[in-house]
Amino acid sequence: MTAPADTRTSDELIRAEEPVLAHNYHPLPVVVARAEGAWVEDVEGRRYLDMLAGYSALNFGHRHPALIDAARAQLDRLTLTSRAFHNDRLAAFAERLARLTGQDMVLPMNTGAEAVESGIKVARKWAYEVKGVPADRATIVVAEGNFHGRTTTIVGFSTDETARAGFGPFTPGFRIVPYNDLAALEAAIDDTTAAVLIEPVQGEAGVIVPDDGYLTGVRELTRRAGCLFVADEIQSGLGRTGRTLAVDHEGVVPDLVLLGKALGGGIVPVSAVVGRRDVLGVLRPGEHGSTFGGNPLAAAVGTAVVDLLETGDFQRRAAELGVVLREELQALLGRGVVAFRARGLWAGVDVDPALGTGREISERLLAEGILVKDTHGSTIRLAPPLTVTETELREALASLARVLAA
Ligand SMILES: Cc1ncc(COP(=O)(O)O)c(C=O)c1O
Repeated sequence: MTAPADTRTSDELIRAEEPVLAHNYHPLPVVVARAEGAWVEDVEGRRYLDMLAGYSALNFGHRHPALIDAARAQLDRLTLTSRAFHNDRLAAFAERLARLTGQDMVLPMNTGAEAVESGIKVARKWAYEVKGVPADRATIVVAEGNFHGRTTTIVGFSTDETARAGFGPFTPGFRIVPYNDLAALEAAIDDTTAAVLIEPVQGEAGVIVPDDGYLTGVRELTRRAGCLFVADEIQSGLGRTGRTLAVDHEGVVPDLVLLGKALGGGIVPVSAVVGRRDVLGVLRPGEHGSTFGGNPLAAAVGTAVVDLLETGDFQRRAAELGVVLREELQALLGRGVVAFRARGLWAGVDVDPALGTGREISERLLAEGILVKDTHGSTIRLAPPLTVTETELREALASLARVLAA
């Protein structure tokens, strides 16, 4: 039995949310009812090209057939066991994900924020047990402009007041340094430092790509100082930048890598901490867990995601279409675009503030049938599914050109 269809219009549904849904989001006024590949359709049947892709959770597009097949097959067999028991999907998922990322072990969780929290816990435990930091003195160095999720510990070291204000008191033990500044990072590391936690590309901050050599520098500094390098690849990882991981651009291997979003194929929340055995190995039974982490449905979908990434096709597409994206954005410089930053099929575009806020530009693009999302001020972010065609990508950029010229 399926639930009866809700026959209300988009406007009626938007109004219906107001009194019953917490106001922690301000969505664009579109009510999506169906989707396929890079396209979504609203309640009234209007079609939109999705240039956000669920903040990279939909790297493989909406309802990729291989992922839907994997999920369907698993729904017919087994969905949840909890980790009180083994399930027959988890071993393959962990083996395959570890191999894909060049790491030894996997800690499966669900959301990105949980992966970050898990990484923090593992780094602290490692600091006490392996590095010998005195009890409760471990510190973690993070970057200004970071976005690692929404839990109380994580927002405590955010530098975005909207994300942070009103949610204290915060967890101690974090030091904040400017992003892309190796000297500041070096100065912040001392004997108490368990880890440096950074995004290899800062997504929410506006797709901030660090200078070449920064990630290599972070790796060298942390190795020399005897602390961990934890890379949050929740948004940058799994094909988005034209490589499997964004750190691959510099051939750098962190001690822990945090994954999420696209790992669930746009179907279920799947996240993971992947890392070296001597680091993740510090966890023992009872010290950390999740009722849903590593569930068989998540593992089946996650394994199908690894299948797709192992072909290399998505990474290649992101790199090739990334060239088109840059070329189109370059042509808009001085014509409404003040600056842009891009890596692979991912760009942060600073629009001339005189033309409107990022929100206003996003609303005008919505009217053109293009879905994007603003980040801060007059910056919009472009991150289409990696399955988008070159023609669709050029059409989206043509719409942006029209909106900026209007
Ligand atoms: C880099 C990064 N880390 C962590 C998160 C949090 O992920 P989630 O929303 O699944 O908790 C995000 C989400 O945007 C992110 O971009």
